[in-house]
Amino acid sequence: MSEPRKILVTSALPYANGSIHLGHMLEYIQTDMWVRFQKHRGNQCIYVCADDAHGSAIMLRAEKEGITPEQLIANVQAEHSADFAEFLVDFDNFHSTHSEENRELSSQIYLKLRDAGHIAQRSITQYFDPEKKMFLADRFIKGTCPKCGTPDQYGDNCEKCGATYAPTDLKDPKSAISGATPVLKDSQHFFFKLPDFQQMLQAWTRSGTLQDAVANKIAEWLDAGLQQWDISRDAPYFGFEIPGEPGKYFYVWLDAPIGYMASFKNLCARRPDLDFDAFWAKDSTAELYHFIGKDIVNFHALFWPAMLEGAGLRKPTGINVHGYLTVNGQKMSKSRGTFVKARTYLDHLSPEYLRYYYAAKLGRGVDDLDLNLEDFVQKVNSDLVGKVVNIASRCAGFIQKGNAGVLVAGNAAPELTDAFLAAAPSICDAYEARDFARAMREIMGLADRANAWIADKAPWSLNKQEGKHDEVQAICALGINLFRQLVIFLKPVLPLLAADAEAFLNVAPLTWNDHTTLLSNHQLNEFKPLMTRIDPVKVQAMTDASKEDLTASATDTGETAPAGNGELAKDPLSPEIEFDAFAAVDLRVALILKAEAVEGADKLLRLTLDIGDEQRNVFSGIKSAYPDPAKLEGRLTMMIANLKPRKMRFGISEGMVMAAGPGGEEIYLLSPDSGAKPGQRIK
Ligand code: MSP
Ligand code: ZN
Repeated sequence: MSEPRKILVTSALPYANGSIHLGHMLEYIQTDMWVRFQKHRGNQCIYVCADDAHGSAIMLRAEKEGITPEQLIANVQAEHSADFAEFLVDFDNFHSTHSEENRELSSQIYLKLRDAGHIAQRSITQYFDPEKKMFLADRFIKGTCPKCGTPDQYGDNCEKCGATYAPTDLKDPKSAISGATPVLKDSQHFFFKLPDFQQMLQAWTRSGTLQDAVANKIAEWLDAGLQQWDISRDAPYFGFEIPGEPGKYFYVWLDAPIGYMASFKNLCARRPDLDFDAFWAKDSTAELYHFIGKDIVNFHALFWPAMLEGAGLRKPTGINVHGYLTVNGQKMSKSRGTFVKARTYLDHLSPEYLRYYYAAKLGRGVDDLDLNLEDFVQKVNSDLVGKVVNIASRCAGFIQKGNAGVLVAGNAAPELTDAFLAAAPSICDAYEARDFARAMREIMGLADRANAWIADKAPWSLNKQEGKHDEVQAICALGINLFRQLVIFLKPVLPLLAADAEAFLNVAPLTWNDHTTLLSNHQLNEFKPLMTRIDPVKVQAMTDASKEDLTASATDTGETAPAGNGELAKDPLSPEIEFDAFAAVDLRVALILKAEAVEGADKLLRLTLDIGDEQRNVFSGIKSAYPDPAKLEGRLTMMIANLKPRKMRFGISEGMVMAAGPGGEEIYLLSPDSGAKPGQRIK
């Protein structure tokens, strides 16, 4: 056997200002499956991650919530950690970029770069919010598009005509934070001299570190010539102050990738068997892989290796890029209920269903991956329940009843066990190459063969005949052994199923090499159902709940991150609106005639509202706050009467009632003073 490899693996650090959704989970599940595979094979593989806690978006969000950034990031870290754990994403360490380790490493790396002459300084002119007293990133400036004249466009591009421009080109610019008219102001900025690394990057990006499609994209950027990278931000900013430069902070993307090192360093402090330098020094022989989405390739395949090189550290062995998640063929959408938070999924479905579905669809490329919800139900039910688990449930009973749970010795079909053995290297290669889709296809091919063989032998018929006891036991013993092989192959994807199977099989935790042996003369434990079919009603409930999330948290904006702009991917601010936009909203006093729970929906109430000249049917996600809905009957509230009707699974919702609060039990339905009459408009 060859020496175990030493491998350090990371997933991109999620921003600490929002919830994890199923798009993020694609990455964490992909990485986790690869890491589990490496561990399963006996390699030393360490998986670290952290929350990406810095930047102005986080600072402003904390301010808006009336808490400190430190409180915000602590809350989010607790939420993220719980989501990851329940999805069985097994980090060796989950840290934060707002940590002492990261402060030290960021300073050290910056100082190395500076002392080697890779940092430049010059003054730049930018928009400044005179009320908030802060410089404004492009996403915090709004104005009229200089090309087509559409009002209310962001400072970098127009959503109407697609034009890209500098914020100074906008007509009538306004700060999206305070509404003030920004003024131009100069300040000193620090730049990382990326062009110093042009040659190194040309070679490194073509040395097998990147997928071809990614290398080609990078080649375009390299051919166009690299620019110096602005790595500083002025106070107020939530981040690390640049050593020796008071009032200047590292741009969040400077210290974010260093957060990978910081998380590992933090782990080393509690794991004496790990040596930090053995993984990060220039002469390290350990492997280093970063798993990321296609939107952040420039940071990982250009800036990051250049920083490492400039600081005298090792560079990554590979950057593994995946595409974006779509749901039912489209970008995740809040109004369609396909913008599903990790937590909302977990409220309705088991994590392994999604892990398997992602595995079945993830190749080694950068194509987007579609979560088609019908296909999801169908594929999981047919493959996992119908093929894999089915083998065990078909065979276990006969061994239990017919042989006191003892699996007999022998091999009833050597040609089958040989085929399983022969398939292992190819499945192993597919995992290694991150071609999970091929691995799953090959494993399901084996499951099909096992099922066909059992169906052909039909132990259930033999069992009714005289004198067939030994034959039935031999068939079922092999069936269970084949099931065990499949579990070994699937363990990186389905760790819970594997643990349950190990309990049933009465064996120590299975490792990859166990596939070369068979159980014989072995006592099994009682068989319990290992996995149940997905009920499509639960999937529907999940998308309904995702629509309810929308009503419950109207402040949580941003469908997906815009390409390239990491920091402000999720603009937390509600932009100002003109009076006309407000006047277009038909707000009315409404009398609640009837309030009742909706069968099959966890959070919804069905309200029948009297708005003077007509009655309306409205679904509202306020059930947790009003567990006894009848109490609402006869009460006045306020509703938006001209909201476009929305078709939901339970019927059409004709408007929206107004409530405040963070959600859950803390939702407060608004009421007018007594004396208001149903149907009166709110002015
Ligand atoms: N904080 C940065 C990463 C810093 S790494 C030093 C960031 N955070 S993120 O929360 O926006 O995204 C985290 C990861 O999730 C990224 O790799 C991103 O590509 C991935 N995804 C976010 N939305 C996604 C989909 N809809 N689909 C697939 N992956 C997605 O970027
Ligand atoms: Zn325009």
